[in-house]
Amino acid sequence: EKVVLAFSGGLDTSVCVKLLEEKYDMEVITACVDVGQPEDEIERPGMVANKIGSSKHYTIDAKDEFASEFIFKAVKANALYEGYPLSTALARPLIAMKIVELAEKEGAAAIAHGCTGKGNDQFRFESTIRSGSVCDIIAPVRDLNLTRTEEMEYAKSHGIPTPSDKLYSIDENLWGRSIEGDILEDPMVETPEEAFSWTRSSEDAPNDAQIIEMEFEAGVPVAIDGEKMTPVQLIRECNRIAGMHGIGRVDIVEDRIIGLKSRENYETPGAMLIITAHKALEQISLTREELKFAETISQTYAELVYNGLWHEPLREDLDAIVDKMQTRVTGKVMVKLHKGGMRILGRESPCSLYSQDAVSFEDKEMDQREMAGMVKNYGLQAACYQKVCKKD
Ligand code: ARG
Ligand code: SIN
Repeated sequence: EKVVLAFSGGLDTSVCVKLLEEKYDMEVITACVDVGQPEDEIERPGMVANKIGSSKHYTIDAKDEFASEFIFKAVKANALYEGYPLSTALARPLIAMKIVELAEKEGAAAIAHGCTGKGNDQFRFESTIRSGSVCDIIAPVRDLNLTRTEEMEYAKSHGIPTPSDKLYSIDENLWGRSIEGDILEDPMVETPEEAFSWTRSSEDAPNDAQIIEMEFEAGVPVAIDGEKMTPVQLIRECNRIAGMHGIGRVDIVEDRIIGLKSRENYETPGAMLIITAHKALEQISLTREELKFAETISQTYAELVYNGLWHEPLREDLDAIVDKMQTRVTGKVMVKLHKGGMRILGRESPCSLYSQDAVSFEDKEMDQREMAGMVKNYGLQAACYQKVCKKD
């Protein structure tokens, strides 16, 4: 029987190829879904898959779909979970959907993934697979309760090539890079410089600041410094510029779905830049009520994505209200990047609710005297409370 394995060429999934053959007696088809990981991370799986025992290997390009159908939805919602822009979490449902399609095409009996039983990705993969397929799901690493050291030993004894320079468990895609495992599991250990690859430290960032202008249309970025780009190009360019200026390192202890706290390191320069600029534009184009409600949406949206509930109808419902609000989030934002910091220098929008005339202290059109009545009874309940309950 055939099984389609979501394959990255890393330790977990490499070990899975052999395990699926040996312990599950299956014909393994591997597939690497390109969600914008670096070139060599796309090529390597193709090169090693057959050597390890895959009967057929596929590379599926899903970059454009990832950028416009997943990342840009998260941008419009300013989705951050405990400060994490959800790079891995957003990619999992898309990867799983591609694997489901392939399994159908190949007439596979099962779909396999390399997730452990301790993390979040098992939830994200399996909820997507179950909402689109009736295939069995096999999770060899979890099934066999393997540790990373045991996986390493198994790989060695079965001639499975593993990237020896990779100490950490790394997951990369267009929206960010996550680094975990090994010494990083001690939350008191400073993340060594060599763990990073997308961002410079603020010390090594250029001494000269850079000012960029980002243009948005209906809540999503479309151009940088006047140059129109595709979503993929634009996100890559933001990663490059912000990463160079030392922006986007996130070192947090996050709450996993199962309740474990885990120390996580992320490099998400483009995400941080885009979301910061996006929020600045929302400030002039949305009303106070909308901004307040948008905060609530962000929180819920991020939790749904983090928790692997991309297919939950509430996520689609939220997209509908977000899309409606975001039609007015159009305009330009000027951001200054310098040595690990970002500052908004300016913003403008054709839908701006900001009126310089009205707010100006030089203006007489809005007669100040008319406000006296409105102010007089403001805080009425607070005044009552102070009089009634605090009279000693
Ligand atoms: N903790 C993050 C998440 O749940 C990242 C997990 C990434 N996986 C990895 N092997 N580094 O989204
Ligand atoms: C894993 O446990 O397989 C990777 C990390 C995660 O899913 O959170």
